[in-house]
Amino acid sequence: MPETVARTRHGSSIGQPLTRREGPLKVTGQARFAADNLPPGTLHAALCTARIARGRVTGLDLAAAENHPGVVAVMTPDNAPALAKHPDDKDGPFVFRLDLLQDWSVRYANQPVAVVLAETLEAAFEGARLLAPRYAAEEPRIGLDAEAPFTPPGVGVGQPPDESHGDVEAGLAAADKRVEAVYETAAQYHNAMEPHAALAQWEGDRLLLHTPSQGLTAAVGRLAGLFGIPPKNIRIESPYLGGGFGSKGLISGPQVLACMAARLTGRPVKLVARREDMYGPMGHRAETRQTLRLGTDAAGKLTALDHLTLTASSRFDDFFEPAGGVSHTLYATPNLAVRHRGVRVDTGTPLFMRAPGEASGSAALESALDEMAFACGMDPLEFRLANYAETEPLSGRPFSSKALRECYAQGAAAFGWADRPREPRQMRDADGFLVGWGMGTATFPALMFEAQARAELRADGSGTVEIGAQDMGQGAWTALAQIAADGLGIDLDRLTFNMGSSTLPSGGIAGGSAHTATAGGAIHAAAAAVIAELAGIATSDSASPLYGAGNAGVVAEGGRLVRRDDASRGETFGAILARAGRERVEGTGKASSDPAAQKSYAMHAHGAVFAEVKVDPDLGQIRVSRLVGAFAAGRIINPRLVRSQYYGGMIWGLSFALHEHAALDPRTGRFLNDNLGEYHVPVNADTPEMEAILVHEDDPHVNALGVKGVGEIGITGTAGAIANAVWHATGVRVRELPITLDRVLG
Ligand code: MOS
Repeated sequence: MPETVARTRHGSSIGQPLTRREGPLKVTGQARFAADNLPPGTLHAALCTARIARGRVTGLDLAAAENHPGVVAVMTPDNAPALAKHPDDKDGPFVFRLDLLQDWSVRYANQPVAVVLAETLEAAFEGARLLAPRYAAEEPRIGLDAEAPFTPPGVGVGQPPDESHGDVEAGLAAADKRVEAVYETAAQYHNAMEPHAALAQWEGDRLLLHTPSQGLTAAVGRLAGLFGIPPKNIRIESPYLGGGFGSKGLISGPQVLACMAARLTGRPVKLVARREDMYGPMGHRAETRQTLRLGTDAAGKLTALDHLTLTASSRFDDFFEPAGGVSHTLYATPNLAVRHRGVRVDTGTPLFMRAPGEASGSAALESALDEMAFACGMDPLEFRLANYAETEPLSGRPFSSKALRECYAQGAAAFGWADRPREPRQMRDADGFLVGWGMGTATFPALMFEAQARAELRADGSGTVEIGAQDMGQGAWTALAQIAADGLGIDLDRLTFNMGSSTLPSGGIAGGSAHTATAGGAIHAAAAAVIAELAGIATSDSASPLYGAGNAGVVAEGGRLVRRDDASRGETFGAILARAGRERVEGTGKASSDPAAQKSYAMHAHGAVFAEVKVDPDLGQIRVSRLVGAFAAGRIINPRLVRSQYYGGMIWGLSFALHEHAALDPRTGRFLNDNLGEYHVPVNADTPEMEAILVHEDDPHVNALGVKGVGEIGITGTAGAIANAVWHATGVRVRELPITLDRVLG
């Protein structure tokens, strides 16, 4: 069992609601994002992208583009630098195929088919326009009915497509009440505020790349493979990201194209994706059609739960939205089946996006639970408590911790849930709008990847911690530094904290809501190594007040080592090092998931979300007027930042329920709304009064720090809660998300 840091010491940084340490740099424009780099001699790149979804490019007006003033080169399949490895070669499950001008085929709309390099951005875009590709188009296959479904090889990060226990058909047959319903969720695009930008520079066979990345080590590895150079020849700088939401977890085709263009021209190349360029080659959340079948006995206990997902992937690669995963963990039932089926369509390959799987799956599951609760004549919260899982339903493992009951209780109390009428269409506000209340359970696995960190403590009481971790906007610059300062027992203002560069020890991936646990775990371990060495020096030095205490008998706090049993006995780091004639103590540490703990426990964060909506009875217009979420996610490193993550997650959930919908023209496979004018995300006016409650939870098993992820859980539960509130307001059950006014009036 990993050592747990349970207590908060005097002067501890962990637990403090600090504001973002890099905030002033961001609001004053001093934070340097990838696209802010512009070394002398930089060429600007513009993508020429396909206006068909399937077929091939038969011609380009190269001369027109090349003769345009300012255009320096046009990169096409005819002159693109050779790669050491074909980008369709998959040497791992998370190596996705990239479109890097290897041939003239078109696999999806907005696929890059050429790159124009010019002295100015304007000339590059004009050149790209002048290329005016000609195509041999084939009829695209679009949508979930494009072909007969098949069973995918794996879903999400390689989980089995089908998992079950018990006998679902028997459980349904024996049920007192049954609900069967089909829910559809739309395709969605990440739409991080910051587009994928790349500034690529070669010096011989060394590559310097400024680009936003959620996973520096994986990006370096992919580039090294494609260009046939050792990873040490590649340096990626990614100090700040304007969001990623999964789309920057792996390097995308256009980022690699910038590197190829820099190699072709021998000059630095800057490529900044336009908004429409981000609809296609950078991943998305695929549409789903989920069939839920539930059975209950006379007491309202589930006798069976069957969750069948149909989802789309691309014609040329494998990523399948693991929507059924939520049903593995949430509700107790003796008979459970979770199945996934896929179809292949002519789109870019889908990818991890904002709670991949859990977001879509929980929207459907929580709606189905609501339908079943009503069928049983039970309050939705009462129904969930009646089916509370004391152990993980699929695996039977105990939970490492699970404060979901407290989440239900605290969320319901804050919302005023007890006053909710059972029947729909019972409440109106003073303006005559229909008012509805709905709820949903939130869940997200507590994951852990691999990371390493380096730490140093100096005789003057200052320290340095370094890790190639990534701040995608979530607050890693602050939360990880808090863990570092705590680990070294120094104040934050004595700490130099470096991250966001591939030259630092691998920080793993900022994804799966696992970055604080993973990178924080490595930092914690590196700092512990430093303190252990320092303790070794002190406790074996007869001149030290710590002499003979033993390493385990001392702790670091406030720039001192003190006895664990008597904090008044100790000395400064400087005094220990001075006697030893040392300037500094250094250490490294790493973190990864503990297989034994994983085997013994199911590890998930939980929460409960309560929503109020107001619906115009004549126009069907829907507004979310209140959202209350209560979440339990282990130890909280920084309550201000965690609350901010929960707010963000709940806004995504709102977005999922009411706004986001990438529409393709079924005849052409082209996007109808690949822009932020027509692809709707919530703005401030759509975002209600929100409350996020941090429910206390101690988890001695999950990892050394006791933290679970907080980044994605807020989206789960919320979409279902809003859908259920719309039903409660109107009496109309819309099973197609996003819920729009036409569907409510339908
Ligand atoms: Mo997240 S979808 O794991 O960046």
